[in-house]
Amino acid sequence: MDQPIGVIDSGVGGLTVAKEIIRQLPKENIIYVGDTKRCPYGPRPEEEVLQYTRELTQYLLNSHHIKMLVIACNTATAIALDAIKREVDIPVVGVIQPGARTAIKVTKNQTIGVIGTENTIKSGAYEEALVALNTELKVENLACPLLVPFVESGKFLDKTADEIVETSLHPLKNTTIDTLILGCTHYPILKDAIQRYMGEHVKIISSGDETAREVSTILSYKGLLNQSPFAAEHQFLTTGERSRFAKIADDWFGHEVGHVECISLQEPVNR
Ligand code: DGL
Repeated sequence: MDQPIGVIDSGVGGLTVAKEIIRQLPKENIIYVGDTKRCPYGPRPEEEVLQYTRELTQYLLNSHHIKMLVIACNTATAIALDAIKREVDIPVVGVIQPGARTAIKVTKNQTIGVIGTENTIKSGAYEEALVALNTELKVENLACPLLVPFVESGKFLDKTADEIVETSLHPLKNTTIDTLILGCTHYPILKDAIQRYMGEHVKIISSGDETAREVSTILSYKGLLNQSPFAAEHQFLTTGERSRFAKIADDWFGHEVGHVECISLQEPVNR
């Protein structure tokens, strides 16, 4: 089935998941939407995050006829995944369960740290997912509200990444965690700085890899894999400034991602 997989986020964060999906499923067409104009979602009221997630989903269903949706945003997953799953008739995957599963496989001392936006941490969604799999776990949660705006500013290659990571993560520094879940899809962009600050003894977990595996399993199980002989197409759309989004995407992918377009969710294009 050559319809695209839709991938959504509040901004550039979901690119960390999209890259992994493209790596594991190179034949699949991908359409990505970053709602950069309304980023960050982390401090917003829950109803607003739910409404924005619905708008992104409807845009992709109506204008691009997606066959599957990946909510590549922890905040939207925590708040909107269950509702969106009930409301649409295509498979929908979030990023919290895959991240939790990976962390459980990796921890040796059963002590896991979770960093995320205010909404993700407040929701307790990671703790719930982790403890449902292993009741013996100890979980240290920390909201890091400075990191998403920093990544969106495009300055993540600067030296200042180390300072902002230290300011944000210092409450976790002297804990006994041996595994740290990056519970926000923007954070893998700062992974090197986070690893430097936490030290090599802490394993850093991003959900992209396991999420892509879940996407692959579902597509294969449902007979939805792309069988077309043509090369896959990847489209990247943003509700914000095109050039900054394209620069971050090119940096993250390590090459020009090609088609980047600015869209308005209020005026969806019918194709
Ligand atoms: N990438 C989003 C997440 O995983 C960032 C949310 C935000 O916009 O604050 O939570």
